[in-house]
Amino acid sequence: MLSFLEIIAITLLAGFIGLVCAVRFYVKLTMGRCTNQNKMEGKTVLITGANSGIGKETAKDLAGRGARIIMACRNLTTAEEVKQEIISETKNDKIIVKKLDLGSQKSVREFAADIIKTETKIDVLIHNAGMALAFRGQTSEDGIELTMATNHYGPFLLTHLLIDLLKKSTPCRIVIVASELYRLASVNLNKLNPVGTFPAAYLYYVSKYANIYFARELARRLDGTNITVNFLHPGMIDSGIWRNIPFPLNYPMMAITKGFFKTTKQGAQTTIYLATSDEVANVSGKYFMDCKETTLNAAAMDMEKAKKVWEESAKIVKLTASDPKI
Ligand SMILES: NC(=O)c1ccc[n+]([C@@H]2O[C@H](COP(=O)([O-])OP(=O)(O)OC[C@H]3O[C@@H](n4cnc5c(N)ncnc54)[C@H](OP(=O)(O)O)[C@@H]3O)[C@@H](O)[C@H]2O)c1
Ligand SMILES: *[C@@H]1O[C@H](CO)[C@@H](O)[C@H](O)[C@H]1NC(C)=O
Ligand SMILES: *[C@@H]1O[C@H](CO)[C@@H](O)[C@H](O)[C@H]1NC(C)=O
Ligand SMILES: *[C@@H]1O[C@H](CO)[C@@H](O)[C@H](O)[C@H]1NC(C)=O
Repeated sequence: MLSFLEIIAITLLAGFIGLVCAVRFYVKLTMGRCTNQNKMEGKTVLITGANSGIGKETAKDLAGRGARIIMACRNLTTAEEVKQEIISETKNDKIIVKKLDLGSQKSVREFAADIIKTETKIDVLIHNAGMALAFRGQTSEDGIELTMATNHYGPFLLTHLLIDLLKKSTPCRIVIVASELYRLASVNLNKLNPVGTFPAAYLYYVSKYANIYFARELARRLDGTNITVNFLHPGMIDSGIWRNIPFPLNYPMMAITKGFFKTTKQGAQTTIYLATSDEVANVSGKYFMDCKETTLNAAAMDMEKAKKVWEESAKIVKLTASDPKI
């Protein structure tokens, strides 16, 4: 005979499993899929953070379409492993690994100089890499709050340093992986280097908001150049981004990500769509989710603010007169 408590426990467990199944089914049903079969032969795609998560699945898909892939990663060990995995799965050996630590301006500059020297064109630049801290803040070697340094300032600087090469590569696409979680934050113009702001997790939302202002102002500045700039929310994805959540909160979080979130392959669909689809060949400055254009809130569309964020960012990454202008 089962005790009353055992019956309750079994009922709760069955209920939870049922809920997980229902949510997963719903996610699958409503998920956006990139359905085009467009080939990418002869195209070079530069993707940051391609050794893990959404970036890895994006790299694998685009390699399967024949693109030459430059995996820009800070961890060369895992990047080399993923490179071999991509080559063996796609039979495309045009996969290159290069060292890039977006949290370091020195690394960004070294990486960009190397790319400019070795590449003749970049058809698609995908700003995918990103990280989140949990409760403890960290500062980059340049004295910038680390989440903002990695997610916003690194991509901002890199785009500047590569802009002349991108202009030689037209038609060219820039894809920026932002997040719908920007809605939980706002960008404080008086604290664009938010060292010491707590909880540090909040700064992840701020950095994704900064991605949106950057993408919109970049699209405006590149209007008429045949370089498009679009940005996206991948969905809530079971990836490495949650790794800095501390014990014991990491366990319930793991249950949530494994149970309810999309897979990294599902999370890569909108990035792949923006990188390959004919439908968006002439679209720029737009926000996408589930492979469809979607809307921003009014504050995120404030172009005056986007311009101010841009101008302050140029100071924070110490752009010099000899650096390319956008
Ligand atoms: N997961 C979600 O639910 C979700 C939702 C909205 C938006 N996003 C965005 O999706 C993008 C991809 O994240 P993910 O979910 O796939 O997470 P992930 O599995 O943690 O992948 C993030 C990638 O970024 C790289 N990266 C982190 N810091 C870096 C640095 N300083 N320099 C170079 N590369 C760095 C990581 O490299 P290492 O392996 O060396 O750490 C990793 O390859 C991020 O921009 C994230 O903000 C994710
Ligand atoms: C690279 O990733 C591996 C596996 O996760 C880890 O053991 C190693 O410490 C990382 N290397 C660096 C330089 O972060
Ligand atoms: C953009 O592409 C169109 C069509 O190929 C071309 O006519 C135009 O000159 C290009 N503009 C620039 C600025 O390169
Ligand atoms: C995009 O614009 C170019 C130049 O204006 C044009 O040649 C091309 O057909 C357009 N592509 C699509 C898919 O609309």
